[in-house]
Amino acid sequence: AFAALVGLSTAAVAADKLTVGFSQVGSESGWRAAETKVAKSEAEKRGVTLKISDAQQKQENQIKAIRSFIAQGVDAIFVAPVVATGWDSVLAEAKDAKIPVFLLDRDIDSKDKSLYMASVTSDQVEEGRIDGRWLVKQTNGKCNVVELQGTVGSSPAISRKKGFEEAIAGSPGVKIIRSQSGDFTRSGGKQVMESFIKAENGGKNICAVYSHNDDMAIGAIQAIKEAGLKPGKDILVLAIDGVPDFFKAMSEGEANATVELSPDMAGPALDALIAYKKDGTMPPKWIKTKSTIFFPDTAKAEYERRKSLY
Ligand code: AHR
Repeated sequence: AFAALVGLSTAAVAADKLTVGFSQVGSESGWRAAETKVAKSEAEKRGVTLKISDAQQKQENQIKAIRSFIAQGVDAIFVAPVVATGWDSVLAEAKDAKIPVFLLDRDIDSKDKSLYMASVTSDQVEEGRIDGRWLVKQTNGKCNVVELQGTVGSSPAISRKKGFEEAIAGSPGVKIIRSQSGDFTRSGGKQVMESFIKAENGGKNICAVYSHNDDMAIGAIQAIKEAGLKPGKDILVLAIDGVPDFFKAMSEGEANATVELSPDMAGPALDALIAYKKDGTMPPKWIKTKSTIFFPDTAKAEYERRKSLY
């Protein structure tokens, strides 16, 4: 019904005849690099031609790439939207060209859900809640938290903040005393953590750092060490992604928890696209990936298992 409604073509097309344009955010984090790598291999496995355009964190580059994919007449467009707003007109152009769009790993803020066929994302609010619940329990409801936010205006930064705040709302002793964006990068996380440490009595007022991704947390760990404190002990470190370097830090006692974000966003999107192109099967609007929290107890084994995958 959706296909007919938006006028998409449902003529059967074999997977090895499909070309997909993927507008990727950039290479800000280890997780992002893994997602790009997995997207390439998942496309190859299915015989799909994948054209990747690196937006270098800029929405204007993504809009240009999408327009170029439309002009090339690709069979579908995958986009990992760097920020949540500002997509309506370019996605309406894709819809007019009858090209299905899949959102990968980040959502958009638009009232018009017909602008995309499906989003393959985790429950990013829940990721924040999982970390928040763990921290409340771990600290018996008493902790001064500093927060490293992701890219301003991106759906994971908005949702992970919201979820964490929800989880600590019933515990007045757990407070976010400082919060700033580190743009999802290691260097950003380090720099912001240094300023938090300086402002908070050399770090002595800080009980935990909640980071919207592992890379910023790894930068923060460096800053904590340079300030003469022990990450994972003097300051608890919790994050989201599940990249090998964070597991390594956990196995060395320098970090405490991470919520895994699957780097395989393209695989489920490709399966949904192939099914749709075969016989018009419509995917669910939200293809949700799992969110599991990991701790130091399994970190060594997880690091060994993941290091070659990433
Ligand atoms: O959108 C997913 C987020 O983007 C990841 O958690 C982060 O590492 C990346 O930059």
